[in-house]
Amino acid sequence: MKKLLITNSISVKLGLLFSGIFITLLFILGSILYGVFTHLFVDYIKQDLLVRGNNHAIVLKEQFNQPTIEHVVRMETGVTTKVLITDSGQRVLSGSIHVSRDVEKHLLAKDKKLTEGIVLESDWKHHNYLITVSPIGKNEGYVYMYYPSGILREIVIVLNVLMIVVGIGILLLAFGMIGILSRRLTKPLLMMKEATNEMELGNYRQNIPITGSDEIAQLGNSIQSLGEQLDYYENSRNDFLAAVSHELRTPLTYIRGYSDILIKGIDKSTEERREYLKIINEETKRISHLVNDLFDLSKLQAGKFELEKEWTDINWIIQKVITNLKPAAEKKNLQIKASLKDIPGVYLDTRKMEQVFYNLIENAIKYTTQGEISIRSYLEQELIIIKITDTGIGIPQSDLPKIWDRFYRVDQSRTRKTGGTGLGLYIVKKIIESHDGEITVESMENKGSAFTIYLKNNC
Ligand SMILES: Nc1ncnc2c1ncn2[C@@H]1O[C@H](COP(=O)(O)OP(=O)(O)OP(=O)(O)O)[C@@H](O)[C@H]1O
Ligand SMILES: [Mg+2]
Repeated sequence: MKKLLITNSISVKLGLLFSGIFITLLFILGSILYGVFTHLFVDYIKQDLLVRGNNHAIVLKEQFNQPTIEHVVRMETGVTTKVLITDSGQRVLSGSIHVSRDVEKHLLAKDKKLTEGIVLESDWKHHNYLITVSPIGKNEGYVYMYYPSGILREIVIVLNVLMIVVGIGILLLAFGMIGILSRRLTKPLLMMKEATNEMELGNYRQNIPITGSDEIAQLGNSIQSLGEQLDYYENSRNDFLAAVSHELRTPLTYIRGYSDILIKGIDKSTEERREYLKIINEETKRISHLVNDLFDLSKLQAGKFELEKEWTDINWIIQKVITNLKPAAEKKNLQIKASLKDIPGVYLDTRKMEQVFYNLIENAIKYTTQGEISIRSYLEQELIIIKITDTGIGIPQSDLPKIWDRFYRVDQSRTRKTGGTGLGLYIVKKIIESHDGEITVESMENKGSAFTIYLKNNC
């Protein structure tokens, strides 16, 4: 039902539009043709009548007697044109036409004198004849020539019928073409409609067979990539929810378990109690880290990402983060090596930049099992460069462009046990970009990764 409606509405609209244009064009063209034809044709006949009438008058001027008159009348008998010859007083001498009232009515007034032949009647639409009159000598008599208007009217009728037939033919042809054209036009549109219906049902990945590169094909491409995007976000959202609930469940289980023991276990030693409290504290930190990331993300998405810039020492920030993360690295027997060259004061958001280094160095520790983490900062021309390199598991080449996406984590199974939601790098990139900077990554699986930040000296 819906399909029919779409097909109809576009076809009908196109059909009406084109037929309107065709009919108007036909009407204009028909009127021009009709006008030109009748005008030229009637002119030609009038001219012909005058010439013939004048010729007869010349002959009759030479010999204005009965035999010559009869000869002239005979010449115009049995042909379409008719002749009538009168004397100077408009008395009919002879003719090849029946002198009806209409004919008589058109005879010249008695006292009217002519110097040359004239058209007496040219209104072929309302009178029976086109009539010319030519004087014989100095108005000794007159030669009247007649052409029946009926023939002209018949020709016009034939012309009209012909135009109507041609018009109908052109209209039918136009409708046929419009039909084919609109089907070509609506078919891809219908496919897109079906695809969007499917997308409404949650099947975002749609394969719309698109050919060509016109606007409709472009629309199809856009719908298809929109579907792919939606599919990607839907999957990311599901992964995210799974990750968040997992991230929350694990520490919460620990906190609940150990606090239960603490509540009940009055007999536990002070050492044991301290150990349990340490675990509870660690797990609370994990939750707080997650909540902070989520908070940042919601601010990023709502566009409320405001920088609180101040003059600061970037090496000092890096050093602070290293100090904070050193225990985590040592726990995994990893060394953090820092080579921080002198860098003049920079104008940036200290807390956010601290978060950047925290996320990157935390990743380096998290995804490295042996070796070291090296952090270098130096100036190169107008740029401040900070390089964080590790000797960890690395990132597959195919995943490299995606690690900046929200919730993206390389190979869920390998990262699930390390914890995290896949928000860290997304937030890092946003912060660096908001400082007009750039961040790049190079990585080789099982060899390690290197993240490089480029900041303008006066960011
Ligand atoms: N230094 C690294 N070495 C290897 N893989 C890395 C490294 N840094 C990031 N990755 C990969 O990129 C993914 C995205 O990193 P990101 O920091 O955004 O998320 P996360 O560390 O998983 O979670 P969190 O939101 O807690 O930071 C990680 O899941 C990991 O697979
Ligand atoms: Mg991370």
